[in-house]
Amino acid sequence: MKRKYKIAVLPGDGIGPEIMREGYKILNVLQKNFCMNIETKEYDVGGIAIDRHGIALPESTLRGCENSHAILFGAVGGPKWENLSSYLQPERGALLPLRKYFNLFANLRPARLYSGIENLSPLRFEIVSRGFNVLCVRELIGGIYFNKRKGTKYVNSKKYSFDTEMYYQFEIERIAHIAFKLALSRKRNLVSIDKANVLETSVLWRETVNTVSLEYPEVNLSHLYVDNATMQLIKNPDKFDVILCSNLFGDIISDECAIITGSLGLLPSASLNEAGFGLYEPAGGSAPDIKGKNIANPIALILSIGMLFRYSFQLIEISNIIESVVYEVLRLGYRTKDILQKNNNLVSTSEMGDVISKFLSYRR
Ligand code: NAI
Ligand code: MG
Repeated sequence: MKRKYKIAVLPGDGIGPEIMREGYKILNVLQKNFCMNIETKEYDVGGIAIDRHGIALPESTLRGCENSHAILFGAVGGPKWENLSSYLQPERGALLPLRKYFNLFANLRPARLYSGIENLSPLRFEIVSRGFNVLCVRELIGGIYFNKRKGTKYVNSKKYSFDTEMYYQFEIERIAHIAFKLALSRKRNLVSIDKANVLETSVLWRETVNTVSLEYPEVNLSHLYVDNATMQLIKNPDKFDVILCSNLFGDIISDECAIITGSLGLLPSASLNEAGFGLYEPAGGSAPDIKGKNIANPIALILSIGMLFRYSFQLIEISNIIESVVYEVLRLGYRTKDILQKNNNLVSTSEMGDVISKFLSYRR
């Protein structure tokens, strides 16, 4: 019998539902033209879930995700919910608990410059024309963001706040293995980022990554201090392939990689656990400034679907086809407003989804 692929779809807020509509078009083509047995079920998450259920991650959504093979996520948040207490807010109340609940410790964010869109980059053409194609591998559920030892207190009426960075060695080991394995499928070049000249956790990080590297002699490993890494990325972006970071450093470095491409609307992401279960989402947020205008770029979400088939279902060929169709559509000059340049063909959100699904259907 044909394998069934069950996907929990969580459109969320802002442009989330708009770009998800385009995602469905892609899934429909895979269903019809590629004869895949895909079952999608939609669940509330984020602000819309707060409005309907009083909580950003309702039990029904969590159960729905549990009964699926992968999660496709739009975006959450918006001004309407900004003043709620922090644990109730869409991002803190939905995305972080989802990552924690499913143990999604490995966050993969590819960032690349497609030829023809180099001048979207804020970097000089002579630098980016050398190429930029990196994969950031970020530890996602440990480190300073998740440690419970944090707070705000007073000593002798002086106010102070603190957060604590802590990593178990096993947490570093498992994310390092993921990064090395991914490096093997790319240019075999891994840069691990830390601050081992100052932080104890970074000393353990570097030591552990070095030990894990012994199992991957084919991968060329180097270490960079995070401050130097931010500079090297701008000066020599073409020298990077796979980048391995802790939660905090990865948050910053992956955004730096995003802006080097100059196109948030093109960047997908995956968050995976050890079993290969994953949540797939565009790197951007709910973009309330462009909500409802049919101008949001659906490509980040469509490439996230590509990552879903690659990492959760091991359908590498399907994933490659989706990527190459997106590449072709960009090369032909179809552009949403955020990536529009001279002599391009301006298309809306829905038109972009139509063009990509049409080209995808030709591949079968
Ligand atoms: P954002 O990523 O939503 O927007 C930043 C800028 O990028 C905006 O000008 C937006 O129009 C543009 N942009 C983002 N995605 C785009 C796309 N697909 N096509 C075209 N342009 C796009 O970040 P911002 O403004 O900081 O946050 C807005 C809301 O989103 C907040 O409530 C925030 O909490 C939430 N957020 C949610 C995330 C998630 O659900 N994973 C991640 C980041 C922010
Ligand atoms: Mg960030």
